This record gives sequence, C-alpha cells and structure tokens, in this order.
Amino acid sequence: MLSRSRPSDTITYLEDGDWAVLTRAICVIYDSKGAVANRETLKSGASSLLVDKANYRHFMAKEIYEQPEVVGQTLARYVDMAAKRIALPFELPFDFNDIRRILITACGTASYAGHVAKYWFERLARIPVEIDVASELRYREAPLRKGDLAIVISQSGETADTLAALRYAKAQGLHTISVVNVPTSTIARESKTVLPTLAGPEIGVASTKAFTCQLMVMAALAIAAGKGRGELSDIDELKLVGELIEVPRLIAEAFAIEPQIEKLARDIAKSRAVLYLGRGTSFPLALEGALKLKEVSYIHAEGYAAGELKHGPIALIDESMPVVVIAPYDRVFEKTVSNMQEVAARGGNIILMTDATGASEATVDSLVTIVLPDVAATFTPMIYAIAVQLLAYHTAVLMGADVDQPRNLAKSVTVE
Ligand code: AGP
Repeated sequence: MLSRSRPSDTITYLEDGDWAVLTRAICVIYDSKGAVANRETLKSGASSLLVDKANYRHFMAKEIYEQPEVVGQTLARYVDMAAKRIALPFELPFDFNDIRRILITACGTASYAGHVAKYWFERLARIPVEIDVASELRYREAPLRKGDLAIVISQSGETADTLAALRYAKAQGLHTISVVNVPTSTIARESKTVLPTLAGPEIGVASTKAFTCQLMVMAALAIAAGKGRGELSDIDELKLVGELIEVPRLIAEAFAIEPQIEKLARDIAKSRAVLYLGRGTSFPLALEGALKLKEVSYIHAEGYAAGELKHGPIALIDESMPVVVIAPYDRVFEKTVSNMQEVAARGGNIILMTDATGASEATVDSLVTIVLPDVAATFTPMIYAIAVQLLAYHTAVLMGADVDQPRNLAKSVTVE
C-alpha cells in the first residue's frame, strides 16, 4: 500500500510474513509472496507528552506516583461510582455460571497480579482458578475444558510466552480475556475480549502502575463473576465496590511512608540477599516485592509463603538477612506473627509492613515497622504494593543502578 509518511500517532499492522519499505515519503507493504498488500491503519492514543519524566528523576518514580490517578481512572472505567456497582466496559461473551475453572496466565509482575486475583475469584466467585506462568503453560499440554475461561495479563500485550499461552488456550476452545495496557497490541488483537488497564504508557522496565491497574481490573472482574454466579448479593457488591472506590485515595496516603522507606533502603542496599514473606494475597505480593528489588537493584531476593518458612528458607536466616514481612492485620496475621517469632529467634532483621492495628498487635521486635493506611482486607495488595515498589526504587537509586533500564532486561520480552 502506498501512503504518505504518517505522524507517529498512526499504526499500520503487518501480518505474519509481511515486510515493508519505509522512506520519509512513503511506506510500501508487501505480503510474504512479494505482492503489494493493503493493511489496516489505526490512530493511536500515544503521545510524546505522556512519555516524559516531568520533574521526576526516573520514569519508575513518576510511574509509582501516578498510581492514585491511573488506578482511579481504571476504577472509573469498571465501576458505576454513583450506584456503587460493577459496570464492565464490555458485555462478556459468556455466562460465568458456565465457567467451571478459570486459567490465569502471564509472566513476571503480571503473573503476580494474576496470582492475587486467584484468591479473589476463589473467595468471591467460588470458581477454581489455575495460575501458571505462560512460559510453562505453553509447553505443559495442560488439559483444558472447552468453554472455560482463560485470562491473560500483559502490560505490553506483546510478551511472546503470554501470546503463545493465549493461542494455546484459544486452540483448546476456551473463552479468552486479555487484561492489557496497550489495546492495540498483538495479545489484545488476538483475544476475544479485551479489558484495558488505563495506566498510560509505562516506560520504566520495572512494572509498577500497570501492576496496580491490573489488580483493579481483576478485582472488578472477580466481583462481577461473584455477582453473576449468585455468590455475592447486592449488599455484598455495594460493600466491595465501596471498598474499591477508596483504593486510589489510600494509595495516595501510602506515600507518607516514603521517608521511612528511604532510610530503610540504606540497610537493604548493604544486604547480600533479602527474603519477602506473606500469606494469602500478601504471598504473591511478596513474590512481586522480591522481583522488584532484584530487577532494579541486582540484590538477590526471594518471595515465599510465610507458612513455608520452616520447610527450608529458615536455614537462611541470620543477622545479615533482612526479612520483609507483608502482614496487614487480617485473619492470618497471628499466623504470620508466629513466623516472625521464628525469624527473630534466629537473629533475623524483620521489616514489618502492616497497618496500625498490626503494629500494635505484633509481639515481635522488628528492625522497622512500616505502617500503611487501614485497607479493607480483600484489597490490601493494591496499597501494600506501594511499599515494595518504593523500597526497590530507593535501594536501586542508592546502588547507583540504571533504575529505568536495568541491565539484561527489556520492557517487553517479545522472544522466548
Ligand atoms: C516487571 O517489573 C518485569 N519487567 C517483567 O517481569 C514483566 O512484568 C514481564 O516481562 C511481563 O511483561 P508484560 O506485562 O508486558 O507481559
């Protein structure tokens, strides 16, 4: 197709095997047989204004601070704020009553958002959820049931493993939903239903605002599933949506911990390795916290289910090993406190991330206690994410690492 050179806000999609000759004046697209081809052209919402550090030192800092706004914008797309009801942007092409199992698959941070969502779907909608990283799912030959639901989560919408896992699920006859930050991406275009996150362009390689926006979308979907299956009453929905509406404000309030985090980062920066522990939805957040730290500061970190401590990781504990315990005051808090006692008894340095009640109820001395705002127990990961993101960021800055472009990493892994 011959066309005048276009401004950067226009996208033409090539198909497999296509190639193009691009000059200042024209763009000619050929198909795999060498014939001139006509391909769809769309306007993109991207703008160079959005890709700017503003007055932040790094994109990662800017994107951490954008979360109250972009999580709020995502919330507004999925909720009727006045009626306090879930209002998905699109009619789903299936009935949740026909879904016997949900498969959630993604990579890296997106997979941890999916892991948090597993708890939500199982608790709120009583649907069994299988979660697997896409690089495993695509080769595992998992027996999937035609008519079930696969949800793929991807900030870029271009991750090769996640795309392959999506194609596997589609080939098995599952309904597919993609939760993506780039609605024009390949994963979006190959999914039956696209649920966009409204995080805006995420430039820092370490995903931050996309993660909390993914959680917001998945929370709305889990409530919709619970309502659709009659597991949640109108009153339950009102209460849960009321709690979701508080999230952007609580994320903004969470930034008050930053001076404490900056100070803590000086100790973490001297560490050889860090352990992150959590139970329930704080467990996938422990995985995410460990990933954040290692990918931007290059300090080894590992996330673990707190209950697994005595099954091996406790051998690591000594005074040189900081242990970040993510423990809002919820129904498993006491269990996590006993894990903290095990750590303290072996000289481990505990960094407790909790709320005011947790801080007063914890009967273990911690090196530092980071007190986050009180949050409804169901949705704590969206607020506690701020603490692990800031800790990773400030530690990386102290280490002099290339925060926005960490070594060996790409923003979108489009190859296996
Ligand atoms: C997250 O901080 C990492 N950069 C990485 O794990 C990322 O989440 C993963 O590669 C998935 O990317 P996607 O969301 O674009 O699919």
